Amino acid sequence: MNHVKIIGTGSAAPDKVLSNNDLETLVETSDDWITARTGIKERRIADENTASSDLGYEASVKALESANIDASEIDGIIVGTITPDFLFPSTACLLQSKLGARGVLAFDISAGCSGFLYALHVGYGMITGGTADKLLIVGAETLSRVVDYEDRSTCILFGDGAGATVISRSDEPGILSSIMNSDGKDWQLLYQPGGGSRIPATEESIRNKEHFLKMEGKDVFKVAVKSMENATVEVIKDANLDPSDIDLLIPHQANYRIIEAIRKRLDMPEEKVFCNLDRYGNTSSASVPIALDEAIKIGKAKKGDTVLFAAFGAGFTWGASIVKL
Ligand code: COA
Repeated sequence: MNHVKIIGTGSAAPDKVLSNNDLETLVETSDDWITARTGIKERRIADENTASSDLGYEASVKALESANIDASEIDGIIVGTITPDFLFPSTACLLQSKLGARGVLAFDISAGCSGFLYALHVGYGMITGGTADKLLIVGAETLSRVVDYEDRSTCILFGDGAGATVISRSDEPGILSSIMNSDGKDWQLLYQPGGGSRIPATEESIRNKEHFLKMEGKDVFKVAVKSMENATVEVIKDANLDPSDIDLLIPHQANYRIIEAIRKRLDMPEEKVFCNLDRYGNTSSASVPIALDEAIKIGKAKKGDTVLFAAFGAGFTWGASIVKL
């Protein structure tokens, strides 16, 4: 009994929709350009009273309900986020309190858009290593707080949301393989300069918009495609599977063209790839768990299916996992 299974999922997104047509009124862009270059049609935006922990809480409550367990049964909370409520304390600690969970281990992981998969990987290691039986693994983001709505090359991409899973020790196979990577040499291609210890918030840093996300989209695109393609091939091999054994690919929802490149590399039919980025945009750490929750709800992912996750993000970080539901 040393397998690790996903036993519950949940997701949450703010009600407010920001469409491509809305963005046309903010920056010089068009619905046609955004749709053709990214596949995104709209994204959700949190209101001023909602932070990442609020979305994470809503997703977590649903995940616990679907796992049919109480928050008190959880042995730890790991949150992937790059938009925590505060630099400290962690969003995971805020969740622990809001959920009324036991005073167990709770921490955040900063791994860009790979945050959820990194958190799942660490949780997998904790359970197989014997230090936990049940964990809450969350991806929660309010990217709208760090996006510059005057920068058309980035503001069209990102949205807010959260997804959560409960993972548990199990007799049946669950996570079959999980491989995570990083390479920090090109960190400047995607980062938030201000607000940390290198460029603390000052009047000048705010004036220079250094607390907004900066990205060299074209360069990031190339590394994202190559890294995610390689990670998926590697993890399939590690699990002793063939691409044809994968029932559903749930990739990080950043850009439809990136997803298409991975699909083609694996020679998978379109119906085996789950995409919801048209409705959410890139929600960073939240994208994979939101997609998983939706795929399960609409019957696209079912018990017994073999699902491949892949993600890439700031750092750079990337990874892939294969899970039997
Ligand atoms: N609307 C209209 N035109 C835009 C635009 C917008 N929102 N954003 C950029 N452009 C313009 C550029 O100014 C450029 O014009 P120019 O040729 O006159 O200089 C032209 O469109 C092409 O820009 P480019 O940046 O080369 O476009 P692209 O095809 O690379 O698409 C991204 C841009 C951002 C959509 C794409 O690079 C991307 O998705 N990158 C990966 C981003 C990502 O996934 N990041 C997160 C990783 S987790």
